[in-house]
Amino acid sequence: MKFCIVAGTRPNFVKISSLLTAFSQVNGGDLYEVVVVHTGQHYDDRLSGSFFRELRMRNPDFNLNAGSGSHAEQTARVMTAFEPLCVAQRPDWVIVVGDVNSTLAAALVAKKLGIRVAHVEAGLRSGDNLMPEEINRRCTDAIADIFFTTEPSANMNLCREGVSCDRIHFVGNTMIDALCKYLDESLRSPLPIGLVEKQFAIVTLHRPSNVDFSDRVSSIVDSINRVAEDIPILFPIHPRTAARVNPSSLHPAIHVMDPMSYLQFIGAIARARFVLTDSGGIQEETTALGVPCLTMRCNTERPITCDLGTNTLVGTDPHRIVDAVQSVLSGSYRKGRMPEKWDGRAANRIVYLLTHIDA
Ligand code: UD1
Repeated sequence: MKFCIVAGTRPNFVKISSLLTAFSQVNGGDLYEVVVVHTGQHYDDRLSGSFFRELRMRNPDFNLNAGSGSHAEQTARVMTAFEPLCVAQRPDWVIVVGDVNSTLAAALVAKKLGIRVAHVEAGLRSGDNLMPEEINRRCTDAIADIFFTTEPSANMNLCREGVSCDRIHFVGNTMIDALCKYLDESLRSPLPIGLVEKQFAIVTLHRPSNVDFSDRVSSIVDSINRVAEDIPILFPIHPRTAARVNPSSLHPAIHVMDPMSYLQFIGAIARARFVLTDSGGIQEETTALGVPCLTMRCNTERPITCDLGTNTLVGTDPHRIVDAVQSVLSGSYRKGRMPEKWDGRAANRIVYLLTHIDA
């Protein structure tokens, strides 16, 4: 059997690293052919190459060089480059992960060529169709053949949308597989200068709904500046955000830096007092690490991180954000528990299921 694994962005690379490790563990005798396709959606070394090196992944077999652009341009470029590759390679399965433009583009191409599509991290729903990722998730799940889920809410969403139960497999979380594998190593990377364990916070911000509108971004900057009066902040800034936030508008206790490498970042969140973010994956990583996470969104597609884990949705209102930070700093914030099957073995379950599906 031949598998084609597609990845395009920073969080995708983490998820496919676990799948590649799991394939290599069953693939000693090269029983299965695994082709890795990088769509080129993320191309900077700090968002792409550094992840391949630190996660000890082999170089992609193909790079589609899709690059940046509008959603239509980016999605179309992945599709037009992936189609001839799929025709030439003819995999039995195309495996897509997460919810980015590359995920949907690759799924559409494969499905129209009659190639089966496996979606890893299927079924998550924020209920917010203004999020590009929500559209990517819904459309990918409308055409995928097999669905691997990270939490029970995803199974329920898929069932509600009419997917038959035998095609949905609750396997756990491939991003947490990588965390389990690399946490010790990440704790050996030094913290940025001047920061002391549990005496700093981390902020990440990149969601278009938060950074693409000047009113919203300045209200968030105002909140972060207020938080920085109480605790130093590490702010690894995403390129989308860097283009919109003037560094001189930030409090001097905010250490702005380029996007961090995977090991640096995981090592830093594990040692942070709390994280203030609008990311999807970081809500899960903080839950797995037991670090408080305040999410600057009004909804989440990962409700288990709020129900069981350490995540709280705080929206973007400065008062709410500052109140939530005070609750963390006062020591009254809840501890949280590890969700079921977030045990470092999700990718092994996926590879087992994919390789036994026709047996
Ligand atoms: C994408 C995903 C998002 C994911 C995030 C992780 C979609 C719709 N969004 O958002 O779900 O959480 O990746 O980071 O797929 N840029 C660079 N260098 C790069 C890549 C991008 O400078 O290597 C800049 C470009 O100016 C680009 C902007 O960042 O326009 C946004 O990149 P893009 O891939 O469009 O979306 P993200 O915001 O990164």
